[in-house]
Amino acid sequence: MGKITAAITAVGGYVPKYVLTNKMLEEMVETNDEWITTRTGIRERRILKPEEGEGSSYLAIKAVENLLEKKQLDPTEIDMVIVATATPDTLVASTAAFVASKIGATNAFAYDLLAACSSFLYGMSTAAAHIASGHYKKVLLIGADKMSSIIDYTDRTTCIIFGDGAGAALFEPNDEGLGLQDQYLRSDGVGRTFLSMDAGGSLMPASEETVKNGKHYIYQDGRTVFKFAVSNMADAAERIMERNDLTHDDVNWLVPHQANKRIIDATAKRVNLDHSKVMMNIQHYGNTTSATLPLLLADYEKKLKKGDNLVFAAFGGGFTWGAIYLRWAYNQQA
Ligand code: UT7
Repeated sequence: MGKITAAITAVGGYVPKYVLTNKMLEEMVETNDEWITTRTGIRERRILKPEEGEGSSYLAIKAVENLLEKKQLDPTEIDMVIVATATPDTLVASTAAFVASKIGATNAFAYDLLAACSSFLYGMSTAAAHIASGHYKKVLLIGADKMSSIIDYTDRTTCIIFGDGAGAALFEPNDEGLGLQDQYLRSDGVGRTFLSMDAGGSLMPASEETVKNGKHYIYQDGRTVFKFAVSNMADAAERIMERNDLTHDDVNWLVPHQANKRIIDATAKRVNLDHSKVMMNIQHYGNTTSATLPLLLADYEKKLKKGDNLVFAAFGGGFTWGAIYLRWAYNQQA
């Protein structure tokens, strides 16, 4: 028997029903559909309305329900649940523990993983390592973010970008050489000042002042983040291909974080991949942070074939970024 690799054996996705279009945003802030579409590629995003009184766990649970139904999996078989999120339900109690209980994963242990928009990518590395250790057989990785909970809908520089959603992927051992092959993950704390939510953590606890000054909303120096994102995401994708001797012909799919269509296009261009091989749904969901990668997998699942070579790439706050090379392990049953 060959080396045990960690393969994705099922995926699920969920986005809330409420659609916030560019036209609707025109009524809320000084912007226009043309600017948003040409600068970002986004046409609409989904929002979990505040009056529903739910957090990111709700999105995560829905995505897992979708996965469990497709896979016909008994949740008590799951060994471990990781929730990748930048918007946990609460800051101290683990969101993953709550999600695991709610989905009936009563034999699992669970924890959250926070690495901004790279959370799911890093989570893939973590999930795969737990599988490769031989200790766990079924690791559930969920990317879930209710970005609307930290967005200032009077700030046109951020409210047009983000949306809510969740996706889930099940990792299991594989002895055919499929699954995660290689990873190139990086971080640089220089990014902390360019993309953050300043208050609510230990550095700047919540106060009347922080609320008044809007410090509980996400802030982004878009232009600077854009420059770092373009060069690092493209660089990571190129490196992972080079060191695995993958040419553009060998790669079946680029799975890029959905932050901005221009960043996705630049990454695809650097590695010489045709648009037909680039997964994209930013036009429908905007940037859902930890959920972009698994939502792509859920949306493209039917097109994926066993043995396909996938290159994942992401960039996010921190800064955090990287790329992963994974061989797809199944054909979806009709
Ligand atoms: O996922 C985590 C990582 N995040 C990212 O990767 C995001 C990276 N950044 C971006 O995607 C882009 O920087 C943005 C989409 C956020 C902004 O696009 P940009 O092309 O970098 O625009 P900009 O910030 O350079 O602004 C250009 C102009 C400015 O006006 P002036 O100063 O040239 O007069 C802005 O005030 O566009 C203005 N502007 C807008 N105009 C209409 C900024 N936001 C808007 C808006 N509608 N919503």
